[in-house]
Amino acid sequence: MIDIKGITKSFGSLQVLKGIDLHIDKGEVVSIVGPSGAGKTTLLQIMGTLDKPDSGAISVDGVDVMRLSSNKLSDFRNQHIGFVFQFHQLLPEFTALENIMIPAYIGGKGTAEAKKRALELLDFMGLADRANHKPNELSGGEKQRVAVARALVNNPAVVFADEPSGSLDSKNKAELHQLFFDLRDKFGQTFVIVTHDEHLASITDRTIHIVDGQIKL
Ligand SMILES: Nc1ncnc2c1ncn2[C@@H]1O[C@H](COP(=O)(O)OP(=O)(O)OP(=O)(O)O)[C@@H](O)[C@H]1O
Ligand SMILES: [Mg+2]
Repeated sequence: MIDIKGITKSFGSLQVLKGIDLHIDKGEVVSIVGPSGAGKTTLLQIMGTLDKPDSGAISVDGVDVMRLSSNKLSDFRNQHIGFVFQFHQLLPEFTALENIMIPAYIGGKGTAEAKKRALELLDFMGLADRANHKPNELSGGEKQRVAVARALVNNPAVVFADEPSGSLDSKNKAELHQLFFDLRDKFGQTFVIVTHDEHLASITDRTIHIVDGQIKL
């Protein structure tokens, strides 16, 4: 599913990733943990094709993403990868339903199909009655669940999440974490989640520890 080999990355004279090898299987829920500044977000952005490594190889869903031109890469990302960030990054002027539909539109789906899929996802998240609310009319937990639905609308091979529950209280946090496992159990969804939450890390299938730009075995 995801294979990365020998990934290195520097920002100026600071080497942030010092040779990362990692394999993630379909349907795995993997957590990435480590101290602040260890390189977790950098690694996630590289795996998610939002940033390029200085050296190494990355294949996602069987595609050597380093070989894709930037246009092809945007299409690939839209079709195969979902993202969830610490802050929902929903568009404030659109409803929950519309926010979820946007990546489907970008991927060329028609309104009826995009809407059907978005409504299914909202229903799965227990948010059917919030479809027409704008983000400022939703709670923090609801906004994050809408962000997860948006990440899933195009049936991505993998969802990369960077501290997805970092801004939630303990109840919403627990609900969001449960949602990841429900989505895996029901749909075989693969998740790679950067987190500082020890409980979440303890219940994932596997935890990758990053320390000073390297995987600590
Ligand atoms: N675009 C950039 N330009 C320069 N330095 C950067 C850039 N992005 C990250 N860094 C540096 O790279 C190092 C790793 O950053 P990264 O964001 O990957 O850490 P992290 O493990 O996600 O930390 P945190 O847990 O605080 O989110 C840090 O020292 C950071 O300051
Ligand atoms: Mg980070």
